[in-house]
Amino acid sequence: MEQSKKRSWAEPFKIKVVELLKMTTPEERQKALLEAGYNTFLLRSDDVYIDLLTDSGTNAMSDYQWAGMMLGDEAYAGSKNFYNLEHNVQKYYGYKYLVPTHQGRGAEHIISKILIKPGHYIPGNMYFTTTRLHQELAGGTFVDVIIDEAHDPESTHPFKGNVDLQKYEDLIKKVGPKNIPYITVALTVNMAGGQPVSVENLKQVHEMSKKHGIRVVLDATRAIENAYFVKTREKGYENKSIADILHELCSYSNACTMSGKKDLLVNIGGFLALNESEVFEEARNMVVVYEGLHTYGGLAGRDMEAMSRGIEEAVQEAHIRARIGQVEYVGERLTELGIPIVHPTGGHAIFLNAKKFLPHLKQIEFPAQTLAAELYLESGIRSMERGIVSAGRDKQTGDHYFPKLELVRLTFPRRVYTQAHCDVTTEAVESVFNRKDKIKGLKMVYEPKYLRFFQARFDKLS
Ligand code: F0G
Repeated sequence: MEQSKKRSWAEPFKIKVVELLKMTTPEERQKALLEAGYNTFLLRSDDVYIDLLTDSGTNAMSDYQWAGMMLGDEAYAGSKNFYNLEHNVQKYYGYKYLVPTHQGRGAEHIISKILIKPGHYIPGNMYFTTTRLHQELAGGTFVDVIIDEAHDPESTHPFKGNVDLQKYEDLIKKVGPKNIPYITVALTVNMAGGQPVSVENLKQVHEMSKKHGIRVVLDATRAIENAYFVKTREKGYENKSIADILHELCSYSNACTMSGKKDLLVNIGGFLALNESEVFEEARNMVVVYEGLHTYGGLAGRDMEAMSRGIEEAVQEAHIRARIGQVEYVGERLTELGIPIVHPTGGHAIFLNAKKFLPHLKQIEFPAQTLAAELYLESGIRSMERGIVSAGRDKQTGDHYFPKLELVRLTFPRRVYTQAHCDVTTEAVESVFNRKDKIKGLKMVYEPKYLRFFQARFDKLS
């Protein structure tokens, strides 16, 4: 794209403090990878050069946020930082009630426990690992109602996160609206490649849900990135501010769960935000059991302050343009090199299409896990598997899920790496690509019960 070639997305900040990186030798990386059982989650961060594992909690805070940390009010109850956060959640997201949680899955746990009864179905625009697991632990069954294009890495649909209204309606007809406590709509859809949902689609989901008495619960973790795609891709939104679009998106829902560790530029934090007073009452009761008092929810006062200030910075146009501009830049370089990635590039990450990258491997030989391990070996760059390992097993049959998408995620923390780091990354991927035919797959030798991708171990197939 013309815009990024001219570097007009340059970072709207300058650097005041730096953290030194460690370079490793190929022999050191080989040893580290063996110790980690070929799982990048099990590497020590000290052995990593450029860490693209996740954009979660890995962001660089601003001086304004760090200054806020010094204003932490660490009172057990009624911390002033809670009220600052509540004010900003109400102002920017538009919900009435706030329940802070230590991170996103804390909020997912609470809302799932309150609203889901055994036998319920919870539709969603593709699964997310922790979200689906909390729904299942509460006795529910997740049903994917995302449009088919989301499962196709080559489709260039501008809103690949959209809900397929026909699939949603079919589910309502099949199981009855009484058995659907809510639909989860993730903005953006992480597992599909950071793909956005259009305002138009969300509005339709909201209308259909309202007609049947079903709630809409947003996963607003990257809703600000979603708002940027709406601004740049959806007709009629070109001249609206990111803040206004965010507010409008949230207005088509009853509640949201939030991992502040992404959009909100902090290292820890999350919340549940809602409009219904009865559900809020229950959530306030439950947060005391699982997270902490309702005015801190597992966070220090200073963390709430940093997150509150993060909201203000995250909706700035220059910030979000540079953030997504950086991801686009890497996507364009890789595409020029003929490397198969998910198109269009998403908000937080580039997703390498491992099925196409390593076509000689069967899915049960874990192509994405293999590719992530090879990239580390090549360069010390850490990425993440998002394929069959992440998908886990069907809770009824015990079989692996075989997702259509078998991806490696290169996730960009916000305000952390420079354009030169981006260039090093594309060069490293290219080097692996040049020797791809010689790469052998993996076998799983240890499998944990829940969220297996975090701790599973592998061996090289001989
Ligand atoms: N929802 C989405 C869309 C997420 O991406 C995440 C976390 C969560 C919920 C859970 O939030 O980690 O604060 O408990 N995603 C991280 C990632 C882990 O690397 O994509 P959490």
